[in-house]
Amino acid sequence: MKNRSLVSISDFSKEEYLRILELAQHFERSPIQKILEGYVVATLFFEPSTRTRLSFESAVNRLGGKVIGFSDASVSSTSKGESLADTIRTVSNYSDLIVMRHPIEGSARWASEVATVPIINAGDGANQHPTQCLLDLYTILQTQGTLDNLNVAFVGDLKYGRTVHSNVIALTHFNTTFHLVSPEELKLPSAVKMHIKEKNLQYYQYTDINEVIQNADILYMTRIQRERFSDPMEYERVKNSYILNNPMLAGAKDNLRVLHPLPRVNEINTDVDDNPKAYYFQQALNGVYVRQALIASILGLV
Ligand code: CP
Repeated sequence: MKNRSLVSISDFSKEEYLRILELAQHFERSPIQKILEGYVVATLFFEPSTRTRLSFESAVNRLGGKVIGFSDASVSSTSKGESLADTIRTVSNYSDLIVMRHPIEGSARWASEVATVPIINAGDGANQHPTQCLLDLYTILQTQGTLDNLNVAFVGDLKYGRTVHSNVIALTHFNTTFHLVSPEELKLPSAVKMHIKEKNLQYYQYTDINEVIQNADILYMTRIQRERFSDPMEYERVKNSYILNNPMLAGAKDNLRVLHPLPRVNEINTDVDDNPKAYYFQQALNGVYVRQALIASILGLV
């Protein structure tokens, strides 16, 4: 993985995912290791973020490296009309690795083609969020003891939810059965379903969340992505499609865990937070260990 960019989850093989997860376990046991002294990581966030940016920055700090960057593109020279390519070429001169989030699909691939240092895609529009995917795989392994042969239900905005796209593609390596719950307007795109079909795996589509809870091992809730809708009325129609609450989990399997990439709006009632099946805040914590593992691997330090 040394010096490679991570733009799409398809850029890494199953063996490479497993290597990252193994390393992440090592960082979970021992998160403070000064292997990044003298290194600079740039975090360029052209879109809002709490978890992704701060967990990357926490990961770098815990490894003894330094962070430069911005969390608001309006304070960068983008606001004066500078192109993404020029920004990336410039920041390549100041850093050893660039973590970038951008609202345009394909922007991370474009950045990786002009950068002279590796690029990690921290989310490009509705396309992909590969590092969230890796931390989700880590969390699934941590809660289920395996990644193989699971029933995984994805619920909510499967059209615009980039974490779902990356997760579905990655999970096709693990003989997953997919349960896809969404409003009609927000179904998983055909291009992502193709990955399931190519592996001859099963997927089932639903509009009612109650149909999937009893058989699921993982219930992966997602936010309806308001910022991706061109028609605000369409968002209003679907925004409250799924609201998970404690009584709905009553018949679930013991091993079921509720995940969510967060932020949540109202799709998981706060009464679920104290349910032992709720695992989304631990999931967010895992982002630090997985990102430590990824940075160390890409910089060739492990
Ligand atoms: N999961 C995730 O990407 O969260 P943020 O938008 O807060 O980074």
